[in-house]
Amino acid sequence: MAVREVLRMGDARLLEKAQPVGKFDTPELHALLADMQDTMAALDGAGLAAPQIGIGLQVVIFGIEHNPRYPDAEAVPQTVLINPALTPLGEDVDEDWEGCLSVPGMRGVVPRFSRLRYQGFDQYGKPIDRSVGGFHARVVQHECDHLIGVLYPMRILDFSRFGFTDVLFPGEDVADD
Ligand code: NI
Repeated sequence: MAVREVLRMGDARLLEKAQPVGKFDTPELHALLADMQDTMAALDGAGLAAPQIGIGLQVVIFGIEHNPRYPDAEAVPQTVLINPALTPLGEDVDEDWEGCLSVPGMRGVVPRFSRLRYQGFDQYGKPIDRSVGGFHARVVQHECDHLIGVLYPMRILDFSRFGFTDVLFPGEDVADD
């Protein structure tokens, strides 16, 4: 398995809509996930979507243990989510900082639904159905946006809160994603 190159903003492949996965528990799908997991771990990311490594399939991974690099973030279970469907629960929106491995070295404040239900499948075809809030809900929305060709800067409303991480947070060890 391998650490793959992560495409950066400006690459047209990041703007494409990903296709649903048709078959679960295949060697190809397991190989893709192994590469995604290796890549996310090597870059210390909180999540990664298949289009970020140039694969146009509806596959995302995310998860975060409590980590000093994300001091305010609650833990999110390590999750493989395939063919996701998101349903906002209510109209409440939270604003918070986000980064992305495809937009290295930058951070911006992004509005996201506070709570949502997400459904989909794991790599074996087992259904996933969770209702979540807070940072968990934010990560899911960020990663699933990659499947419809949306990068977080495209969601920013207030560009006075978008900039280079080392300028915004001098002296802090802030992760890229
Ligand atoms: Ni991202």
